[in-house]
Amino acid sequence: MSPASLLAAATLAAGYLPERASSVAESVDQVFAFIFWVSLFFLVLIVGLTLLFVIRYRVRPGRVAAEPSPSHSTRLELLWTAIPLALVLAMFGWSTAVWLRMARHDPGPAPHRVQVTARKWSWWFDHPGGRGSNELHLVAGRSTELVLGAVDVVHSLYVPEFRLKQDAVPGRYTRMVFTPTRPGTYPVLCAEYCGTNHSRMGAAAVVHPDQASFDAWASQGGGGDLPLPALGEKLFAEKGCSACHSVDGSEGLGPTMKGLWGRVERMASGPPAQVDENYLRESIVTPGARLVAGFDDLMPPMPLEEREIQALIAYIQSLKEKP
Ligand code: CUA
Repeated sequence: MSPASLLAAATLAAGYLPERASSVAESVDQVFAFIFWVSLFFLVLIVGLTLLFVIRYRVRPGRVAAEPSPSHSTRLELLWTAIPLALVLAMFGWSTAVWLRMARHDPGPAPHRVQVTARKWSWWFDHPGGRGSNELHLVAGRSTELVLGAVDVVHSLYVPEFRLKQDAVPGRYTRMVFTPTRPGTYPVLCAEYCGTNHSRMGAAAVVHPDQASFDAWASQGGGGDLPLPALGEKLFAEKGCSACHSVDGSEGLGPTMKGLWGRVERMASGPPAQVDENYLRESIVTPGARLVAGFDDLMPPMPLEEREIQALIAYIQSLKEKP
């Protein structure tokens, strides 16, 4: 074991880092451990000496005035310039080398390729074989390439256990290449402030132990055979609607869906509207067209298929009947 990986292992064991679940985690931990322990060493040294001098040379009765000290020592000044300079250059060089290796990493001829779509305020993942989900599904030991896009503002995909973070930028695609190493379920976070519900923009990354397990998941239906209200309930969670719209009457950034169906709502402008199929359809496809009074124009338009829109309407309708 090299000193760097020993240091990283000690930092991990001390509980400063989450577990490692990707091929790049170890090299990131080594850089982190180096910066962390160098900083801690100087923190203790400088604060310790400061306290020592403050106590030792404090003003005391009978103490003679301090002797004048030499204005400067060239040797000392060179030393305390050269050592920090060498340390920060080492941090810069090392972390740049690790970053370049990650950024230029070739995923190989047949990676597990997932298209990632970020929006306010949810993630969507389109997997090999066509299955889309609000969960990211990967295979342990398989070279993986995530292609990230965003529909509205800059978001950032962050999985602490993978030690990876990549911005998703509207109007262009960004990439993340790595190999997940440990089966399990890990949190996916948004690491770029993207508005009101940024802190709740989470998802799960599921790493399957082998390809067969992923294939079994991927071959399960995309919802084509579900009854409309059940499909609607599924979409309501998957498309991120539930981030802003409650179904139990509690307050959110958008109107609650509880008891919404059939109600006559006051609009921010124009005459009141009754919540029927056409009003809901319009509000899903062009959310800003007729806003309910008291709410802001925050919702992004949802590119949905016709049956998915019908399913969401059927689900909202079904909430009216529930107690
Ligand atoms: Cu998306 Cu923060």
